[in-house]
Amino acid sequence: MNKHLRKGLLYVGVAGAAGLAGLYFVRPQIGHPPITGDIAAPAEVESVLRRACYDCHSNETHLAWFDHIGPAPWIVSRDVRAGRAAMNFSHWDRLNDAQRSGKLFEALNQMQFGAMPPPSYASLHPEAKISDQDLAALRNYLVALTPALAANTAGAASTSSASSTQVTAATLESSSPKAPTDAKRDVAPSPNGIGYQPDYKNWETISVSDRVDLGQTRVILGNDVAVKAIADKRTNPWPDGTAFAKVAWSQVTDAEGNVHTGDFKTVGFMIKDARQYASTSGWGFARWHGEELKPFGQDASFAGTECLNCHKPMEKYDFVFTAPFNLAKKQP
Ligand code: HEC
Ligand code: HEC
Repeated sequence: MNKHLRKGLLYVGVAGAAGLAGLYFVRPQIGHPPITGDIAAPAEVESVLRRACYDCHSNETHLAWFDHIGPAPWIVSRDVRAGRAAMNFSHWDRLNDAQRSGKLFEALNQMQFGAMPPPSYASLHPEAKISDQDLAALRNYLVALTPALAANTAGAASTSSASSTQVTAATLESSSPKAPTDAKRDVAPSPNGIGYQPDYKNWETISVSDRVDLGQTRVILGNDVAVKAIADKRTNPWPDGTAFAKVAWSQVTDAEGNVHTGDFKTVGFMIKDARQYASTSGWGFARWHGEELKPFGQDASFAGTECLNCHKPMEKYDFVFTAPFNLAKKQP
């Protein structure tokens, strides 16, 4: 090794050690700004949120002793800042009713998919583990927050527990959901230039979900590229050409408490092309609403500000909620 190079390496070593020492001794400050209006939810819901979410999504951050060790404070303070910015239960008074139920719906989904609390946090904080009961409590609270839906389903005991609100593929098939009659007419493209994809009705059903607070049933379909990627276990990242459709119908509960699909509401698409859609993390987003199939969005920016933003917590799974969840369940 020549002398010059050795001297260079020595500098790198010294700088590195100094940097590590800095990480140990200078701690960033996580403040506790005032609480303007805390979420007021049933006790069982509040206890879940406090236990598993408040460290990052409220102004009441408790730092356990291990969070003070080593370089962790940097990671923690970054999480707390970003978490509070995304959703803050201490400033719940700043949201209107629709925003509150929107956030809680997202929260329920993130919890169901195991994205929140972040696994790195959960592994250090065993008390933050989410049980089926926790999910049921939040789900029931969401239903109660939506007066129309709560009244609609009050007689149907079937909506009072977590498992029974799940709409099975069989219920869906038996009620033969109506698809919009779009075959013979021109549908306006999405403001970001993506054209309507009438072919989705021939794609394969990957999953069924229900959005309890809006009273909707949703089906997620994948094209042949998606289906092949699932079979080949090549879903992270999904290959170019993958396309998903999410179709939503209103939910109608009959006298016996069975849930059926009602009117067609929306169809949304995610189309993978890493180069073409680089500005929205490789996915082209588009959505059409109602029987008239009105494209969603004032201008092209909706894909980033609305769609991608809400899919962001699934970044580790290439921004897709559905399939990784099913695949993860199938893994030993
Ligand atoms: C260790 C910190 C941490 C914990 C604990 C945590 N989160 Fe998060 N959460 C974050 C961060 C950071 C973000 C922002 C992610 C981003 O913007 O990329 C976030 C984002 C979210 C979002 C998206 C909000 C939006 O509108 O953009 C939801 C919903 C959410 N978290 C729910 C929860 C729930 C529910 C819990 C408890 C079960 C929880 N989180 C626990 C750090 C945390
Ligand atoms: C409020 C958060 C939120 C917003 C905003 C959002 N999505 Fe999603 N999206 C979800 C969730 C959660 C799922 C998982 C399925 C479900 O529960 O409905 C999903 C699933 C999907 C899927 C099926 C693939 C997957 O990731 O599972 C498509 C396609 C989709 N969304 C398209 C869109 C489009 C297009 C937009 C914007 C016009 C959009 N989404 C905006 C939360 C959101």
